Amino acid sequence: MINRVVLSGWHKWLSLFVGIQLLIWVGTGIYFNQMDAQAASGNMYRKTVSHRGNTPTSDFMPLEKLALNEPVVSAALIWVSGTPLYLVKTENPLHNYSAQQHTLFHAVSGLPWYIQPDDVQRIAQRSYTGPGQASEAVLTLPPFDFDGRQENLLWKVSFDDEVHTDVYLHAETGAVIAHSNDDSRLKHLMLTLHFMDYANTGGFNHALIVIFAIATLTLAGSGVLLAYRRNPNRAVRRKRETDVRVIHTGGCETLSLPANQPLLFALTQAGLSVSTECGGGGTCGQCVVQTDNTVAVSDVDRYHLTEDELQQGKRLSCQHVSSEFTSVTLK
Ligand code: FES
Repeated sequence: MINRVVLSGWHKWLSLFVGIQLLIWVGTGIYFNQMDAQAASGNMYRKTVSHRGNTPTSDFMPLEKLALNEPVVSAALIWVSGTPLYLVKTENPLHNYSAQQHTLFHAVSGLPWYIQPDDVQRIAQRSYTGPGQASEAVLTLPPFDFDGRQENLLWKVSFDDEVHTDVYLHAETGAVIAHSNDDSRLKHLMLTLHFMDYANTGGFNHALIVIFAIATLTLAGSGVLLAYRRNPNRAVRRKRETDVRVIHTGGCETLSLPANQPLLFALTQAGLSVSTECGGGGTCGQCVVQTDNTVAVSDVDRYHLTEDELQQGKRLSCQHVSSEFTSVTLK
């Protein structure tokens, strides 16, 4: 059986952990409710551009003539800044954000084709309508602030506008993957907090959420257990009264107190004051009364009182119901 003080301590720490996350949910929930979805998309200065060129398809080399070393999973014709290319995949991952293996061939010459930083910067510039100047294109490793799941190497071109736009492009094809700016980065931060996704998995099916769910269940369970164990005589629920002789600073009297109520509360209801800081929670050790030493010692008594005090008959009045006492002296 877990000691009540230990259980109470665990309950408090779990409350803190769960409470902080609940506050975060409230805060991020309000943000999601109020946010400007268009601004938060990061696409404030984004436009779609066609890369299609004029080369007639009759000039294209047949796919079968390409010098391929590995079995092809799929092949497609794409255009990059007016240049026709065969995009050949030797594997086909489930998601676009998973690591990809592409090979590009010029569709007319059939020679391998590699994108150049200047091409990347030009494509980024064409996809951008804002007032900023473009930086040089830089190859960038994951993780990225617009999508934690993205596993591919991407080009990044930054613009010095008021929202600090970054344009991310595919490392091989130069396709624009995303525009990101201060608003979309704030949204990404809020998503991270909301889904507790501090490892950037891009979702909510991760270990911390599972731990949080277990902590919440444990918090609820420990709360029920603490409430149940608050009354040591909990098996008896009938309402009846018991006579207790009470000696206090004002004299001595015999009171009829609710038999199954903790003595602390029964005395308080009868108008007598007993010192307490925790309100009967069993954690402050303030509600000591002197008994005739016939009251059984509880775990919580033992935690707060010395062996001498217990032997003298001192007990915590919040830990015993009135029916356990025949006579009590208040401090
Ligand atoms: S009231 Fe705090 S321990 Fe009894």
